[in-house]
Amino acid sequence: MDKSSIHGMWSSRLAFILAATGSAVGLGNIWRFPYMASDNGGGAFVLIYLSCILFAGLPILMAEILLGRNGRTSPVNALTQAAEQSGRSRFWTLPGWMGMVAGVLILSFYSVVAGWTLYYAWLYVLQLFGGAPIADPGATFGALLGDAGLLTFWHAIFMIMTVVVVAFGVEKGLERAVKFLMPALLAMLLVLLGYGATTGNLGQAASFLFVPDFSAISGEVYLRAMGQAFFSLSLGMCAMMTYGAYLPKGISVGRVGLIVALSDTGVALLAGMAIFPIVIQFAIEPSGGGPGMIFTALPLAFDQMGAIFGLVFFALLAVAAWTSSISLLEPTTAFLVERTRLSRKTAAIGMAALTWVVGLVSVLSFNHWSHIRPFGLDLMTLIERIANDLMLPLGGLLIAIFAGWRLSGRISREELADLPDWLYRTWLWVVRVVAPVAVTFVFWQALRPIVRQLMGG
Ligand code: PFF
Repeated sequence: MDKSSIHGMWSSRLAFILAATGSAVGLGNIWRFPYMASDNGGGAFVLIYLSCILFAGLPILMAEILLGRNGRTSPVNALTQAAEQSGRSRFWTLPGWMGMVAGVLILSFYSVVAGWTLYYAWLYVLQLFGGAPIADPGATFGALLGDAGLLTFWHAIFMIMTVVVVAFGVEKGLERAVKFLMPALLAMLLVLLGYGATTGNLGQAASFLFVPDFSAISGEVYLRAMGQAFFSLSLGMCAMMTYGAYLPKGISVGRVGLIVALSDTGVALLAGMAIFPIVIQFAIEPSGGGPGMIFTALPLAFDQMGAIFGLVFFALLAVAAWTSSISLLEPTTAFLVERTRLSRKTAAIGMAALTWVVGLVSVLSFNHWSHIRPFGLDLMTLIERIANDLMLPLGGLLIAIFAGWRLSGRISREELADLPDWLYRTWLWVVRVVAPVAVTFVFWQALRPIVRQLMGG
C-alpha cells in the first residue's frame, strides 16, 4: 500500500515535473549561469558544467527523489527512516540538517536578487505609464545597490510572496501557476533570442559559450562550475528530496529526473544564447560581466524593443525565482510541521522571517557593509560561495554515497522498479563511483593551490 505524505501529494506526473522544473529553473539559469560563464572563461566553464550535470547532477537528482518518496517526509526524517530500514547509523541524516542550513543561506540572498527583478519590473510599469526610461542602466543598477532601504523593501515583498505559497500548501496555487508561467518564460526567452539573432552576434555568442579554451580552466573554475550545476538543479540541499516525498508511486523517477535535468540545462543554454548577443551588441565585453550583467545589458535592448518587453521579461524572471524560492522554504517548513506543534502557516512564516533577517547581510553587503571583505569577497558573494560551491556539492556527495553504498538495495531497486536491470546497475555504479569521484576531484582541484600555498609558505 502506498502511503501518502501528511503535507499533501502532487496530483499527477505533470504536476511533479512542473514543480520540480519550477524549482530548478530560476535565477540560477537566467541571472547566474550567463554571468558565471562570463566570469569563468566561457566554453571551458560550460563544458565542466555540462559534465557535472551528467555525471553527478542527474544521478544524484534521482537519488534525492527516490529517498524522498521512500520516506514520504521532510529530508531529515526521510533519511532517518532510510538509515533505519537499511540498518545504518544516524550519521546519514547529516545531509538533511546541512541542507536546511544551506536552504536558509541560499534563500537569504536569492530573495534579495529576486527583489532586484521585481524592482526592474516595477520600473518598466512606471515607464509604460509615462515615467522616465532607464537611460543609463549602469547608473540605475548602481543606485539600487546603494539604497539599502529600497533593497530591503523588495526583498521583503519577495519573501512575502514566497511565504504565502508555502503557507497555503504547494499543490493548490502552485500547480496551476507553473503550468501557465513556465511556458510563458520560455516564449519570452525565444523572443529575446530572436532579437539577439538580429544583432548578428549569435555566432560570436555561441563560440564564447561552446568553444572551450582549456587554458582558462583552473581549480576555481571547476569548483564554480560544479557549484553552479548543483545550484541550478536545486541539488544537494534536499529540496528535490522534499518534492520527491509528494510524488505518487508508479511514476518513473528516472524519467522525471531526466526531463527536469534536460529542461533546466536547456533553459540555461538558451538564456546564454539570448543574452550574450545583446551583451556583445552594446560593446560590453562578454567576459567579466559580474552579478549585474543582465540588469545592465538587457535594459539597453529593451530600450529599443519597447518597455513592455522589459516588463514582461523581469516579471517572468521574478516568477521563475518564485517557483524556486518556495522549494527553498518548503523543506524546513515541512520539518517543523513534523517535529513541532507549529501549524504549516506559523512554521513557514517563522522560517521566512528568519531568512529575511539573514538576507539583510546581503542587502548591506552592497552599501553600508561594502568595506567588509573577508577573503577579498563581499559578504553576499561569500555566502553564495559557501552555500553553492561547498555545502551543495558536499551534501550531494553524502547523498550519493548513502544511496549507493549504504541504502538497502531493496529500497533503491523498488523505487527504480521501471528501469531495466542494466540501467539500474548503471545508475548504481554512477552514484557509487562516478559522482563521488567527480565531486572529490573538483574539491581537490580547488584545494590544491591552497594546499600548495600552505606547504610552500
Ligand atoms: N535551482 C534554482 C535556480 O536555478 O534558480 C535555485 C535553487 C532552488 C537552489 C532550490 C537550491 C534549491 F534547493
